[in-house]
Amino acid sequence: MSKSKTSYVCSACGHTEPKWLGRCPQCGEWNSLQEQTIQRGDRRQERTVRAAGGAAGGSSAAAAAAAVSLAEVSTAEHPRLPSGFDELDRVLGGGLTPGSSVLVGGEPGIGKSTLMLHCAGALAARGVLYVSGEESPHQVRRRADRLGVTGAQITILANAELQAVLSALEKVRPAVCIIDSIQTMHDPEAGAVPGTVNQIRYCSYELTDWARSNDTALFLVAHVTKEGTIAGPKVLEHMVDTVLYFEQSETDVRILRAMKNRFGATDEIGIFSMRERGLIQMTDPGSIFLVHRDGALPAGVVAAPVYEGSRVLLVEIQALTVPAKGGVSRTFSDRIDSGRVSRVAAVLEKHAGIRFSDQDVYVNVAGGMRIGEVGVELPLAMALFSARTDRPLPRGTTVTGELSLAGEVRPVLHLRKRVRAAREFGFERCLGPAAAPDDDDGAEQWQQVARIGNCIRALW
Ligand code: TYD
Ligand code: MG
Repeated sequence: MSKSKTSYVCSACGHTEPKWLGRCPQCGEWNSLQEQTIQRGDRRQERTVRAAGGAAGGSSAAAAAAAVSLAEVSTAEHPRLPSGFDELDRVLGGGLTPGSSVLVGGEPGIGKSTLMLHCAGALAARGVLYVSGEESPHQVRRRADRLGVTGAQITILANAELQAVLSALEKVRPAVCIIDSIQTMHDPEAGAVPGTVNQIRYCSYELTDWARSNDTALFLVAHVTKEGTIAGPKVLEHMVDTVLYFEQSETDVRILRAMKNRFGATDEIGIFSMRERGLIQMTDPGSIFLVHRDGALPAGVVAAPVYEGSRVLLVEIQALTVPAKGGVSRTFSDRIDSGRVSRVAAVLEKHAGIRFSDQDVYVNVAGGMRIGEVGVELPLAMALFSARTDRPLPRGTTVTGELSLAGEVRPVLHLRKRVRAAREFGFERCLGPAAAPDDDDGAEQWQQVARIGNCIRALW
């Protein structure tokens, strides 16, 4: 006899509570707990919940029989499938892995469907099933025409019912299946309403399971809002092999970031540009975020070579300081972590004797690139110093380096590549940590600075 059990699951992070709470104790989101009822004895439901919770399944004689010696496991690797974009292949860790599942998240309108349709075109000869739960086949066709994507081997299914998709998969047996989007998929087994956490988990589990057993590469497109509240793809992140997020910069540039990757590095990024006829990849993006200026630079602006993914990008860091209203200073920075900005300002206050604690601080990265690497700290410090003292940097100068709390300039990875890239983009001088490039490459424009004060004196 089956008994039902009610629990509450957070739509943002997937955390489960036995009682309803106004705020999720795991991720802190308000009003995100949704009721879910599980029929005890309903195996499929429990399997889904178990899969989502990551707990080990119950043992059975059949499962035990499938256990093999490690030595017997085949080491043969499936060849990767090229997605049609080198930029995407690099983010995937060298192409698409058969049987793997890739979550492609991003805000609505960022270009997820466009990217998927390009890939469908490139992979068409191998067999592609494109499941569109949001657009009619007519709309998909019109977009495909606009992108120049043709291919009789692309099968379109405009039906978001899980069973219809599984039947189509059995019939088509594609090398690649695209689900656009996972939020539209539903199955009566997982409750009445599409888009709930339970539906998303259930459908994703069934689809990734099918894909893994049939060597089909699976893309799951997922919408995320800025607030991340729509039944969060977060709950899917541990169910898939790879998690990619598509981010928009202020221009037509789109950045694809690997947040998780079982088949490659996670700090990799791919850079694209959205054009009239779809996305084009930017394989040489070194200076696309750099602002080209004539004459003297304004105060508060510093060019920096940062290492994102596996290459150097030159970016312009901009800072502005104004006296704080009401004596409470605040930091506004969404491209560089504001905690990092406050810390760098505190280091300047302590070791360069310049006051920030009565200032509101604004920091931006031109072009809207988010920067998470430590090498941004010394250039950020120089931008803050320049803004606060109203003294611009000399032209043709870049700065790189990490900053310790004691005011020392710490080494950064790939220093030589940074210096070389800076020279390539016309910078005659590069200031940074006291570990100079060990070959002639860039040695003449390299200037070592041991402490934050040395850097300030060298520049001004
Ligand atoms: P889309 O791929 O539909 O976004 P998502 O699936 O992430 O919601 O992209 C939609 C946006 O891209 C839309 O604003 C129009 C623009 N776009 C172009 O600029 N050029 C194109 O060739 C295409 C197909 C879309
Ligand atoms: Mg779309």
